[in-house]
Amino acid sequence: MLTTLAIAHYRSLRDFIAPLGRLNLVTGPNGSGKSNVYRALRLLAETARGGVIPSLAREGGLPSTLWAGPERFSRGMLTGEDPVQGTRRSEPVSLRLGFAGDEFGYAIDLGLPAPDLRPADKRTKFSLDPIIKRECIWNGPLLRPSALLVDRQGASMRTRDDSGEWQTIAQPVASFDSMMTEFSDPRTAPEMIAVRETIRSWRFYDHFRTDSDSPVRQPQIGTHTPVLSNDGADLAAALQTIREIGDPAALDAAIDDAFPGSRIEITNLDGRFEVVMYQHGLLRPLKAAELSDGTLRYLLLVAALLTPRPPALLVLNEPETSLHPDLLAALARLIAAASAHSQVLVVSHAARLIAALERERDSQSIVLEKELGATRIVGVDELDMPAWKWPSR
Ligand SMILES: Nc1ncnc2c1ncn2[C@@H]1O[C@H](COP(=O)(O)OP(=O)(O)OP(=O)(O)O)[C@@H](O)[C@H]1O
Ligand SMILES: [Mg+2]
Repeated sequence: MLTTLAIAHYRSLRDFIAPLGRLNLVTGPNGSGKSNVYRALRLLAETARGGVIPSLAREGGLPSTLWAGPERFSRGMLTGEDPVQGTRRSEPVSLRLGFAGDEFGYAIDLGLPAPDLRPADKRTKFSLDPIIKRECIWNGPLLRPSALLVDRQGASMRTRDDSGEWQTIAQPVASFDSMMTEFSDPRTAPEMIAVRETIRSWRFYDHFRTDSDSPVRQPQIGTHTPVLSNDGADLAAALQTIREIGDPAALDAAIDDAFPGSRIEITNLDGRFEVVMYQHGLLRPLKAAELSDGTLRYLLLVAALLTPRPPALLVLNEPETSLHPDLLAALARLIAAASAHSQVLVVSHAARLIAALERERDSQSIVLEKELGATRIVGVDELDMPAWKWPSR
């Protein structure tokens, strides 16, 4: 389980450290940084899949994602006497993402390459690509030199062997590759493989498309689907998988909880699976193409939350979208049940969902607000903050 999430200089998350529990609710007004927390976690997950640099580039690269405020605020800027203004940079550009759990911690530090002094025709065209400057994996909740297990500094990487001696890996790591995707030998870096596999199990669900052309509304070839895809196209197969190898009683209960008297069936026509829903008062079941947006979104969330293969971490971004407030209590019950098998983080605006989840045991609210453009957590004492140390360059 993750106990700390740490982000620095990523959008409005200038210096953001959040304690995490079993079931986390991220809330706050528009623009307070909720989606930034979601995106930062997803970027962190991309490191283990080898996609952190392309993902950053799709978001506009470092010029867009780097904290747009000054390196530090002067006393006058904080009291409002002086305007907020930039000063000459004294520190290198550095976007940092990290987490720590009971067992391991991981941090990555991204920056820009040193100015290229070669003649123009010899220069790389990728000069705006961020560079991975440092990556570390350590033992326990806090980075201490003695707890460091795997350490990448620029192109060189070293791991600690059984006797605690550092072994440098001969092969250099490219500036755009995470050390986690570069090395797969479980003998030299077993902790790294463990961290990588945990991160790869993290699952993210953002808005599902349910418009009339959405793949969710079309019959799809069905194969065993213990994990609903991100676009939900395999909804029918995922629901059938829950019925066969998951918890079919929980599935039926979740449908009845939201739509009393209704039930779903999965039809199979020449290998193409489709969800149909029997509703009280209707003579024939309705196909996915005929269901309302909210009904379909609820079914998608049911499939995501009742997965027979729970991830280490499940992150939901605004799951309430287009759900009627009356459905939110049923959704909250599903989320709470999922948190028995996975650590869960929910980003939400919906007061009813938040209120229902706050009543759950082990839930904790992370209420965000913005101060001088930077996201901070409301009402946490400095003393309650988990200890965190970034690796230096
Ligand atoms: N590079 C940047 N530097 C500083 N702040 C940034 C940067 N990029 C975006 N922001 C700020 O981040 C905020 C957007 O945060 P985010 O999208 O996480 O809000 P939100 O809490 O999800 O809001 P909503 O409820 O509207 O979805 C904006 O206020 C924007 O000013
Ligand atoms: Mg948002």
